[in-house]
Amino acid sequence: MIKKQALYEGKAKRIYATDDENIVWVEYKDSATAFNGVKKAEITGKGRLNNEITSLLFFLLTAKGIANHFIKKVSDHEQLVKRVKIIPLEVIVRNYAAGSFSKRFGVDEGKRLKRPIVEFCLKNDELGDPPITDDQIEVLEIASTDVIETLKTSALKINDILTEFFKECRLKLVDFKLEFGVDADGNILLADEISPDTCRLWDIDTNEKLDKDLFRQDLGNLIDAYETILQRLGGKQHV
Ligand code: C5P
Repeated sequence: MIKKQALYEGKAKRIYATDDENIVWVEYKDSATAFNGVKKAEITGKGRLNNEITSLLFFLLTAKGIANHFIKKVSDHEQLVKRVKIIPLEVIVRNYAAGSFSKRFGVDEGKRLKRPIVEFCLKNDELGDPPITDDQIEVLEIASTDVIETLKTSALKINDILTEFFKECRLKLVDFKLEFGVDADGNILLADEISPDTCRLWDIDTNEKLDKDLFRQDLGNLIDAYETILQRLGGKQHV
């Protein structure tokens, strides 16, 4: 597979064309951003860790029958994925209160929700990724009611798989964000990344934070925490 011209650069990844029109080359960057790009830093090693962790989790999800874009890891900070058109929604699953949920509704961080919930935000940097309801998604023609249901069902299934796996690794999956895309044949595939940048992951015994909240809230060393996650998931640690 040949890496060709750059197609798109996001906050955390760069996407390149390949010699196959249905496959793109993803490069994970060392950039960290928070608060819609207001807080920024270069953190050496973050791209590698997110690539390793995402590759490992997509491999697991593939084995569990979740349709997704992942093909293979091609270097420590790069992977090949199927080309999809991203549905401009952030699909958020929450098991415990934290982040914007705690802030908006005044619920203590760490309170277990009585069941997992799914929320949507519109993926739009200029608008600050606002929360969006099912009705708003449908009337704005972002997705049909059928697609909305598919996204919710799939997100909850992914939550079941990841929650169980993380538990075996002594980690609590507090919440996370998914993105889905549509491939050339019209299939809805899980896309983007699943990493400590996009999940809140706490130590199962101590509730120690091991995710991007360390960067958002200046709480400690991000790389040490991400290395801990990779090691617990059974991945290759950097020496
Ligand atoms: O900020 P909030 O509490 O709504 O975030 C919920 C989950 O979604 C967190 O795990 C966060 O890391 C993730 N998220 C993300 N990208 C965003 C917004 C949220 O990965 N743009």
